[in-house]
Amino acid sequence: QELELKLEMLEKGGFDHFMLKEIYEQPRSIKDCMRGRIYPEEGKVQLGGIKEFAEKLKNIDRIIIVACGTSWHAGLVGEYLIEEYARIPVEVEYASEFRYRNPIITEKDVVIAISQSGETADTMAAIEMAKERGATIFGICNVAGASIPRLTHAGVYTHAGPEIGVASTKAFTAQVTVLTLMAFYMAQQKGTITTSKLIELLTELDHIPEKIQIALESNDLIKEVAEKIKDSTNCLFLGRGSGFPVALEGALKLKEISYIHAEGYPAAEMKHGPIALIDEEMPVVFIATQNSSYEKVISNIQEVKARKGKVIAIVTQGDTEVKKMADYCIEIPDANEAFLPLIATIPLQLLSYHIAVMRGCNVDQPRNLAKSVTVE
Ligand code: AGP
Repeated sequence: QELELKLEMLEKGGFDHFMLKEIYEQPRSIKDCMRGRIYPEEGKVQLGGIKEFAEKLKNIDRIIIVACGTSWHAGLVGEYLIEEYARIPVEVEYASEFRYRNPIITEKDVVIAISQSGETADTMAAIEMAKERGATIFGICNVAGASIPRLTHAGVYTHAGPEIGVASTKAFTAQVTVLTLMAFYMAQQKGTITTSKLIELLTELDHIPEKIQIALESNDLIKEVAEKIKDSTNCLFLGRGSGFPVALEGALKLKEISYIHAEGYPAAEMKHGPIALIDEEMPVVFIATQNSSYEKVISNIQEVKARKGKVIAIVTQGDTEVKKMADYCIEIPDANEAFLPLIATIPLQLLSYHIAVMRGCNVDQPRNLAKSVTVE
């Protein structure tokens, strides 16, 4: 038994939990995910896995992304990126709903199925249905040779390495990285982006692992914030634009490992309902980085403060505006809006992790949850 314990310690690489190890692996896993796929000096993206469909991508009408849970959140980030850069309409569907509707799918549609495990039953059923109706299916998977990569026509692996913690962390950021690469690749094929813009974006993307490393350095501060809100029974996560899927993912992480009830919302939706929940007991986590929705998020923060909510804000390094209002600010390095989800997710993963540990929860194997959901 002692040997087993030592082995487990070794597997965790000196970390207390697999989840923490996997959070800290992200600068490396994202580098692995981009290796051999981006050429910043030339402004070029190469995705060998979907190369044979390069021509087809010029003429597709629509992309439908199907996934579950965290992978679905990655899909929402993908929607922003693909629409912004490749100008192709994107729909993001829960695989479990999609499979039981009678969706309109044509041969000019591309379906992207996202799954860490590659074994999720609902996602597999959605693929099979779309395939029967003639769509081209791409997969974004982490586990090589799993069922989903075998069902799809083509795909791109995330190369994040094995993810043991039930709560997905490094697989999520790798999925977002692949979707970023796909968006740029499609934009390149369709001619909706200039080479000089791609050079600029890829040069920045190449340095995102270093920015994630910097984000990880706020760990001690995040632990202090966790201490302050660990006894809450509810928590709201708010963001706008691509900060919205980040908010959803932050809420899912917190609820699944700490059992605190948490909800993610687009910040502007707050006034249509969730604002009624706000009182001095309610922590509200904002994605309040300096990007196109910064000013709007600031007014949402004011609305929460006016109702005495506790504001925890993820802000851009050097921010002064939000700091005047928020109870706690966690800084992340500045980045192009396209890459914001990759960095802003990191402090939220750490926040959930510390809260769950402080509450004595089984972080790596939360109750009632399985790593891959192979039943519907
Ligand atoms: C995430 O932390 C979850 N445990 C869960 O939502 C997961 O993302 C979902 O079950 C989908 O799994 P997949 O990516 O392996 O298909």
